[in-house]
Amino acid sequence: MNPGPVLALAGARGLVGEEILKVLEERGTPLRGLRLWSRQPQGRRRLFRGEEIPYTRAGAEALAGCDILLHAGPAASGHSLGLAAEAAGVAFVDLSEAWRLEPRTPLVLPELLQAAGLPDSPARRWALPNCTVTGPALVLVPLARRYGLQRLSLTTLQAVSGLGRRALAAFATGAAERPVREEAPPGLPRPGDLLPWCGGAPEAGRRASPEERSVEAELRRLLAPAAPHIEVFCLRAPVRRGHGATLWVETEAPLEDTEALRAILPAAVHWAASPAPGPGEAAGRPELLLARPRWDPAEPRRLGLWLAWDNLHCGAALPAVRLVEILGATLRG
Ligand SMILES: NC(=O)c1ccc[n+]([C@@H]2O[C@H](COP(=O)([O-])OP(=O)(O)OC[C@H]3O[C@@H](n4cnc5c(N)ncnc54)[C@H](OP(=O)(O)O)[C@@H]3O)[C@@H](O)[C@H]2O)c1
Repeated sequence: MNPGPVLALAGARGLVGEEILKVLEERGTPLRGLRLWSRQPQGRRRLFRGEEIPYTRAGAEALAGCDILLHAGPAASGHSLGLAAEAAGVAFVDLSEAWRLEPRTPLVLPELLQAAGLPDSPARRWALPNCTVTGPALVLVPLARRYGLQRLSLTTLQAVSGLGRRALAAFATGAAERPVREEAPPGLPRPGDLLPWCGGAPEAGRRASPEERSVEAELRRLLAPAAPHIEVFCLRAPVRRGHGATLWVETEAPLEDTEALRAILPAAVHWAASPAPGPGEAAGRPELLLARPRWDPAEPRRLGLWLAWDNLHCGAALPAVRLVEILGATLRG
């Protein structure tokens, strides 16, 4: 049996890094070794599968003996560690935005891979989409493959945990409510209020914010060769964990009914048991929840849906671990 890879996890102490460790444990992912990287290990350790694993200093020099580097840190370290991994011949899986739009780096969601499997990457580097893209893509890509896609309109309501551990802690302590705004990391909504953008407002003269433009660009990569008209609004919600979204699509071929849609969606997509699941209902779950379908036989090419998914689990950690499992299975036992 393939004993699995030696995996290094960069950003292991972050929100996504911690969730990855939970998913690795839950799924029993085969691993020959696990290295937990931190910029400040300071003698810390973490229990994993009954063993105390020390955090070790993150960096290119720690790559020796690793098969895969899974990066869950910011884009700057994603970029430098991606280059270091390529030079060392170590497979690199990135959750940051560093490589998502780089043409030589495939942008992949394991749930959507077809018979041909994982796209080849000469640099042995693969990027995962933004957690805001993951949920809608699980519906949009199968729809585009089966019916063709002319137009889509997406409005996201994104959780504060999408901004990382520091922002989540500041939100929990009410920092965003205090009069001195500098105390709060940028982009934090006030508790009980919405922010009408994510990550930053649109620059002067631009219709879309940087987050909205990157969501659109990633969707375009995942949907190719389909090239629909895409409109995106990204809003930050005063929710700790779990993204929600409304989605309208116009297909090229008519949809038979919403049952037909069920048949083409990946296993990770579930029709919600409750009539309208909030993001909190999706928190901690591996599935994308769908609800409130709007489809009318008189307009069979138009479909509206409500989506809810856990940004940390379904949107990031689970696809990352599944990608590690696929890469690990290709290593010699
Ligand atoms: N939060 C989400 O929902 C989500 C979903 C999908 C993708 N992502 C992406 O995943 C990455 C991690 O997000 P997160 O929410 O987990 O952030 P986070 O909670 O802030 O954690 C990031 C971790 O990265 C490490 N780090 C920070 N600066 C670093 C540097 N210069 N070099 C190496 N490591 C560094 C830090 O650990 P040490 O200080 O211990 O090194 C920190 O624990 C980001 O790129 C984010 O955009 C986030």
